[in-house]
Amino acid sequence: MSRNAKITAVGKYLPEKRLNNIDLENLVETSDSWIVERTGILERRIVSNGQTNSDMAAAAARRILEERQMGADEIDLIIVATVTPDMFFPSTACVLQEKIGATRAWGFDLLGACSGFLYALASGAQFISTGTYQKVLIVGSDVMSSIINFRDRATCVLFGDGAGAVLLEPTEKDEEGIFDFLLKSDGRGGKFLYMPAGGSLNPASHETIDRNMHYVHQDGRQVFKLAIKGMVEVSREILERHGYTGADLALYVPHQANLRIIQASVEKLNLRPDQVMVNIQKYANTTAGTIPICLAEAREENRLKKGDLVLLTSFGAGLTWGSILLRWEL
Ligand code: ACO
Repeated sequence: MSRNAKITAVGKYLPEKRLNNIDLENLVETSDSWIVERTGILERRIVSNGQTNSDMAAAAARRILEERQMGADEIDLIIVATVTPDMFFPSTACVLQEKIGATRAWGFDLLGACSGFLYALASGAQFISTGTYQKVLIVGSDVMSSIINFRDRATCVLFGDGAGAVLLEPTEKDEEGIFDFLLKSDGRGGKFLYMPAGGSLNPASHETIDRNMHYVHQDGRQVFKLAIKGMVEVSREILERHGYTGADLALYVPHQANLRIIQASVEKLNLRPDQVMVNIQKYANTTAGTIPICLAEAREENRLKKGDLVLLTSFGAGLTWGSILLRWEL
C-alpha cells in the first residue's frame, strides 16, 4: 500500500521573553546595526527559568490538538527533532508523550540539527505511506539558549528558542501532500559546526566546562558558504525532477539561519519576495524549530491555500541539508 502523508494541522510556541540586539550589546562587544546588517535578526525569544524543551513542544502540540479537534490518544507516533533535549534520556518524545497524554503513541528523538525537522518529516511520512499509521506528530523544538555562550559574540547573536509542530495524516492521491524529499549528509563538514562536550567523547568534567566545550562552536564563514550552495542545489534538483521551476512555487520555506543566506538562495532560485517565508527578524535561528514555526505563521497570515506547491529547504550541522516538496492540503 502506498499513499502520501499530508499536513493536517500546524502549531507553534515561542517563549514570552524577548532578547533584543540592544540587550546583547550589554553582554558582548556587538551592535544592533552589525547584527541587523549581517544577519537580519532584530530579536529572539528565550525560555524563562525552568521552562523546558518539552514544555515548548507540548504547547505547540496542544495547538495542533485544538486545531484538529482531536484527542492526544489518537496520535500513533511522535518524533521530536532537537539538538537540545530536556536530557539525553529519556527522550523528549517520551516526556512529551506523557505531558500531552498521548497514551497510545510511541516516540523517539531525532538529531539532524537545523535539518532535523525535515529529516523527521520525511521519516514520519514513511509510516503513513506504508499504511502503518494514521496520525503522526512531528515536532521541531530547540532551547538554543541552553548551549550558547553568551560571551561569544560570533554565536550568541544568531540563535533563539522556539518550537513548531505538524500533524501528518494519509492522503489518497499521488501528487497530494508530501510527494518528494531529497535529504543529504556530509560528515566531513562536522568540524565546521559542533558542540564538543557532553557526549561520550568528552563527558562533562571541570575541564570541559572551563574550556567552554558545552557550547556551540562554528566556523561561520564556511557554514555560510556551504549553506547557500547546499540549499540551492537540493532545491533545484527536487524541483527539476518534477518538471517544476521556482515560478511554480507558492511558497519557499527556507531554514532561518541568516537573512543573507536566505536572500542569496532566493536570488539564485529566481524567486520573488512574495514567494518566500521569512521570520528570522523576530526569532533568530531556532534550529529544528524554524521551518514548522514558519509553516504555522504562513497559515496564520493566510499565505497558504489548498493545492499550493510548497518547498521546504534546510541546512545545518552534520553537515545535514535537504528539501521536501509538498502540495498544501489545508
Ligand atoms: N558583532 C560585531 N562584530 C562581530 C560579531 C558580532 N556579533 N560577530 C563577528 N564579528 C566580527 C568578526 O570578529 C570579524 O571581525 P574581523 O574582521 O576584525 O575579524 C567581522 O565581524 C566579520 O566577521 P565574519 O565572520 O566574516 O562575518 P560574516 O559576515 O561572515 O558574518 C556570521 C558572520 C553572521 C556568523 C555568518 O558567517 C553566518 O551567519 N554564518 C552562518 C552560520 C550559522 O548560521 N550557523 C548556524 C547554524 S547552521 C545553519 O543554520 C545554516
